[in-house]
Amino acid sequence: MGHLYLSRELTPGAMDAVRSLGLPLVVHDDPDRPPPRQRLLDDVRGASALITLLTERVDDELFDAAGPGLRVVANCAVGYDNVSVDAARARGIVVTNTPGVLDESTADVAFGLVLATSRRLVEADRFMRSGAEWVWGPQLFVGLDLSAGATLGIVGLGRIGMAVARRAAAFGMRILATGSRASSAEAHALGVQPADLSRLLAESDVVTLHCPLTPQTHHLIGAQQLAAMKPTAHLVNTARGPVVDEAALVHALERGVIAGAGLDVYEDEPRPHPGLLALDNVVLLPHIASAGRATRDAMGKLAVDNVRAVLAGDPPLTPVPG
Ligand code: GLV
Repeated sequence: MGHLYLSRELTPGAMDAVRSLGLPLVVHDDPDRPPPRQRLLDDVRGASALITLLTERVDDELFDAAGPGLRVVANCAVGYDNVSVDAARARGIVVTNTPGVLDESTADVAFGLVLATSRRLVEADRFMRSGAEWVWGPQLFVGLDLSAGATLGIVGLGRIGMAVARRAAAFGMRILATGSRASSAEAHALGVQPADLSRLLAESDVVTLHCPLTPQTHHLIGAQQLAAMKPTAHLVNTARGPVVDEAALVHALERGVIAGAGLDVYEDEPRPHPGLLALDNVVLLPHIASAGRATRDAMGKLAVDNVRAVLAGDPPLTPVPG
C-alpha cells in the first residue's frame, strides 16, 4: 500500500482521524500555504490516497504523477470544481467530497454576511476605528431592515440554502428560492416560495448564492442580472467566486446599481478584484464559511472515512454525484 498524501495540515481533531488510518503519511510541511505545483507532483508519487483541498487542481497531470496505485481522492470540501471528475473516473479513481457536515457553519456565515451588508456593520466598525467624531443620529448608518417584510432570494436551494432559509424564516423574512428543492415539503414548511431567477432577482432585497460552480453557473450573476436587482438590494456569495462576474459586480457597486455585497469567495481566488478593496459597500471575508472548529474536524473525519472505506474495498460514504 502506498502513502496517504495530505496537501495541508488539518485541524487537530481531523489530524487524529488521519493518523488513525495507520497509513504512511506525507503532509505538506507549510500549514499556511498550498504546495507549489511541482512539489505536489513530487510528493504524490506512489500514493494510494490523497486528501486534497480546494486550492489544489486535481487533474490528469496529478494522476500521472501519482501513478497507477492511486485509488481515492478525498476532497476536503463540499465543492469539487477543482477536481477533474471525468479524468478520475476514466482511471477508476474514486472522488469524494464532504457534504452535509458544513451546512450549518456555512449558513451561519452566509447569514452573517446578509446582516453585515444590509446593516452596514463592517462599514460602521471602520468608521469607529477611524476616530471620526460622532454622535447618535437618526440617519447614522441606516440600512435595510431584515424583519420588516424584506425578501431573501436563495439561488440554488440545496442543503446549505435550506439552512439559510431556516435562519431567514426565524428573522421573519419572505423567502424566494430557485432549485428543485424549492418546491419540497421542507421548503414549503419554511414558507419558501419557488421562483425563477428573474423573479427572484427583481423581488429580493438580499440575494444569496448557494449553487455549485459548473459550466452552467459560471457568471450566472453578471451585469444583466445585477441590473435586474433593486437598487436597494444586496448580494451575498458564499458559493464559488466565478458564479459572479466580479468586474461587473464592482461596476454595479460603484454606480449604485445595487446597494451592497458580502463576499466570502472570489473569481480569481485568493485575489479579490482590486476595485472591491476600494469600496465601502462591500464586506470581504477570506473564504471562511465552513471554518467552524467542529465543522473543520468533521470535514476532515469524513474525508478520512472515505479513504478508509475505499482502501478497504467498500463503497465510499460520500462519492461526488454524477
Ligand atoms: C468550501 O468552500 C467547500 O466547498 O467546502
